[in-house]
Amino acid sequence: MIHGSYPALRLRRTRAAAWSRAMVAETLLTPSDLIWPLFVTGGSQNRESIKAMPGVDRYSVDLLPALAREAASLGIPCLALFPNTEPDRRSDDGREALNPENLMCRAIRAIKEAVPEIGVLTDVALDPYTSHGHDGMLDEAGRIVNDSSVEVLVGQSLNQARAGADIIAPSDMMDGRIGAIRGALEGESFHDVQIMSYAVKYASAFYGPFRDAVGSGGYLKGDKKTYQMDPANAEEGLREVALDLSEGADHVMVKPGLPYLDMVRRVKERFEVPVFAYQVSGEYAMIEAAVAAGVLDRDRAVLETLTAFKRAGCSGVLTYHARHAAQLLG
Ligand code: PBG
Repeated sequence: MIHGSYPALRLRRTRAAAWSRAMVAETLLTPSDLIWPLFVTGGSQNRESIKAMPGVDRYSVDLLPALAREAASLGIPCLALFPNTEPDRRSDDGREALNPENLMCRAIRAIKEAVPEIGVLTDVALDPYTSHGHDGMLDEAGRIVNDSSVEVLVGQSLNQARAGADIIAPSDMMDGRIGAIRGALEGESFHDVQIMSYAVKYASAFYGPFRDAVGSGGYLKGDKKTYQMDPANAEEGLREVALDLSEGADHVMVKPGLPYLDMVRRVKERFEVPVFAYQVSGEYAMIEAAVAAGVLDRDRAVLETLTAFKRAGCSGVLTYHARHAAQLLG
């Protein structure tokens, strides 16, 4: 046979059999890559469905230990908690965030008592606690006031750390909050409490269903564009990461997920730190809507998207499909 009459390189050769595909796979998705967000609500033995997120429920605190046990047995290393605060506990200044008996703190304690070996990540931002649905505090003109918001966010972080949170995850996008929170944690000798900053967080349409889940959507006046980033910007995201790392963040997050994999890759290559992505509520809702319409295979879509996060450079992914994905991977 004359050289050149066949392809010198046949990349299909290693794809031909399952054993071979497994052998050359560059990216391995495991349950330890998953962080499972849970919505917490009041009452007991209370489980509420969320209209915008079919298949995701809110759970009362007493139901959380069983979920934590299930997560741990599936190999999921960490849970992320989000409270749906009672309407009469929401206020202009979000002071319920500082209450040691708030839903979040009770949830942390219930989980850490029952399943101490699982990590608990807690969101820091005021939107589940404010009567206006914003992540910080407003002045009379309705503008977000950065520095007094940071003071409350510091108090919120300490409140969560005292309740036993392992990872403080500020999602509020105020300037300077990572340094302030780190200083306060050190000041109370919480040396081992990690900070995962939502460093690259965009003002996104994909958070819509989440606001339904924590009940802030109905309250939100205006938008969050004066603190969350413009989806048009990438360099600004790199600057956010540089700042948050210099202020004491242990890991950084990119959010939303799939539309922003370029940022995951750029952050990973530039900073060489653990990078996480949040496959947010709207991304979950899109997959579920497509599955319900009969146009996507859920199992394949879930595993493919999660693998893509890992390929892009993520150490892990916050995903509402965490339990399902861990079951598939188990
Ligand atoms: C709170 C917060 C939000 C999300 C996580 N933390 C909403 C927002 O910023 O408006 C969104 C998560 C999701 O959509 O799944 N600041």
